[in-house]
Amino acid sequence: MGHHFLVTTAIPEPGLQLLSDAGQVTILPEPPDYATLSALCATGDYDVVLTQLRDVIDEPLLAKARVKGVSNFAVGYNNIDVDAASRHGILVGNTPGVLTDATADIAMLLILGTARRVVEADRVVREGKFLGWEPEFMLGRDVSGAVLGLAGFGRIARAVARRALGFGMEVLFSPRPPGDRPVSDDELGEFAGRVRQVPWGSLVESSDFLSLHVPLNEQTRHLVDASVMHRMKPDAILINTARGPVVDEAALVEALRDGVIGGAGLDVFEDEPQLAPGLAELPNTVLLPHVGSATVPVRAQMARLSALNAIAIAEGRLPLHPVNPLVRA
Ligand code: GLV
Ligand code: GLV
Repeated sequence: MGHHFLVTTAIPEPGLQLLSDAGQVTILPEPPDYATLSALCATGDYDVVLTQLRDVIDEPLLAKARVKGVSNFAVGYNNIDVDAASRHGILVGNTPGVLTDATADIAMLLILGTARRVVEADRVVREGKFLGWEPEFMLGRDVSGAVLGLAGFGRIARAVARRALGFGMEVLFSPRPPGDRPVSDDELGEFAGRVRQVPWGSLVESSDFLSLHVPLNEQTRHLVDASVMHRMKPDAILINTARGPVVDEAALVEALRDGVIGGAGLDVFEDEPQLAPGLAELPNTVLLPHVGSATVPVRAQMARLSALNAIAIAEGRLPLHPVNPLVRA
């Protein structure tokens, strides 16, 4: 019972059970603000803090923190200053792999949903405006034969590629972050000869659907800004299941309003849970509340991995999925 875990927001089972089998668990009654979390991490009472994406773990917090590690309940870790954690000898763990397919499903859903105007169409039915089959009613776009451009070619992008190929899309990708070294033919694996690698500029210009699969960092913040939108096809659709700040959301609202691009399917926003003014009023968007990984089995897997990461760190081992493994070297 030596270990003590601080859980900023209750996670699903088996996460809490695993943690309480391994030590003492403190679950905060409500998501902590920055000052509260910072003070709790500095008490020296906790071995590991189990965090959510909205918990900001930055340099000043880490400098005062007396914890061995931070276990993030997410694959992305842009809420944590990992370099600062490394400097302070604090391990960071994340939950990759288990949410790849669920997130790719949401990207595919947004591709299909924007192409076929699912939100508008649903509203028509509910508002009693479906007056019978008509030859030119609610016409959308074809997905089959359309060009899908993937920004990034990591796990989630590959899972989207697999789905899109099944829908008869032509799949292009550009390595992440744009400007990274090219992916070799060997690394293409099952996709060799089935997807084409192109420079970022060509990806932007030739995609009917441009889907973002890059981590958020200083190279990718506002990767898709007004100038990129102006290079996209006028009917192109932007899909974002990665991180909101990869897109300049205010510029996106303007581009959608002015017909610079055709539509957007978004599961993430620049300043969650706020939306850029005007975004919610645009009909050519499908907007989801960051649900990429939101299935019952996936959240249970994420809970399991984040608990196992926390326990490993508390016991002086590397987490199963270390973000900064060199801390121990
Ligand atoms: C969710 O956005 C995650 O990074 O797991
Ligand atoms: C995230 O898990 C990715 O590699 O795309």
